[in-house]
Amino acid sequence: MVDGAGRILSNVIATQMDAHALYGGVVPEVAARAHLENLPGTFEAALAGAGLGLHNIDIVGATAGPGLIGALLVGLSAARAIAFARGLPLQPVNHLEGHLFSAHLFADGSPARPVEYPFHGLVVSGGHAELVRVEEERIVPLARTRDDAPGEAFDKVARRAGLPYPGGPVVDRIAARGDGMRHRLPVGRLADGSLDFSFSGLKTAMLREFERRGVDGSPVDPDSVSADLADLFASFQRAIVTALIERVDAVHRSDGIRCLALSGGVAANTELRRTLAAWGEEHGVAVLLPDRALTTDNAAMIAWAALLRYRRDGAGVPAAAVARSRWPLGS
Ligand code: KG4
Ligand code: ZN
Repeated sequence: MVDGAGRILSNVIATQMDAHALYGGVVPEVAARAHLENLPGTFEAALAGAGLGLHNIDIVGATAGPGLIGALLVGLSAARAIAFARGLPLQPVNHLEGHLFSAHLFADGSPARPVEYPFHGLVVSGGHAELVRVEEERIVPLARTRDDAPGEAFDKVARRAGLPYPGGPVVDRIAARGDGMRHRLPVGRLADGSLDFSFSGLKTAMLREFERRGVDGSPVDPDSVSADLADLFASFQRAIVTALIERVDAVHRSDGIRCLALSGGVAANTELRRTLAAWGEEHGVAVLLPDRALTTDNAAMIAWAALLRYRRDGAGVPAAAVARSRWPLGS
């Protein structure tokens, strides 16, 4: 829950990681069921955490897409019910738009940074890599991934190495003690000169490196990974960071970036944060790094994006809030 100044009043996360870790990834039916089980208690905890009652709510925001339809329907139906019962506006939110504005929020409850348009946004998560220009009236997509998302690449590569799910934070930790300059791995530049990202070549290269070393995916303790593998993971992480920075740099040269807001689960990555901050300093670009606690999926970013959009557009009728499995930014 957020207030009108973008202060986070409560941000309760019901994690389903244990259920998904059992399968090494997200199973749609498991996710929908977990949403159904977790939602009532999470909502109560959010109200209690903010010290508010249902009567204090002015606007209801809910993720309407993109994503798994079963999970989306659970949240959206609950939001519709609350809005209907209280006669409140219901603002559907694009999940990626939630990430996009999350770097303006503060986890400690301070008011949000004022949003100044236009700014550029880099959303990097388990499902997406999107580079966009955010104007007051519209969002212009500039580059996106053609295949795997960066978080997906982290997760898949980690899984093939026998590391726990989600792989991103684990690889981040292992890479910290490795030498990222040791291996030259493909950075995923596209032959057609497009700005789009591609991470599948890098993933395949990593699988080949694993085969060569006899890494077969049986469970390993992240802290006992060899120095050789730590170098490999550090090089893998560097390749992903390089791919992201290269595109940002290309857009800066053609478009002139004033402010870049990083977001999404992969925005927690230590190497990415460090490299992007340094790039910003070098080029005189304000780089907004989201608080780590706000990088992975959370309710505060959705409430905040709902508020911003409500102020720009006004909410439509609740019946117009339908779940969408596909919903590209800017459409
Ligand atoms: O945004 P998010 O919570 O969910 C999606 O909308 O996808 O992102 C989750 C992704 C996972 O793939 C996870 O491995 C990755 O973010 N991630 C990281 C780190 N922390 C989370 N990737 C790299 N380094 C991290 N420190
Ligand atoms: Zn997300």
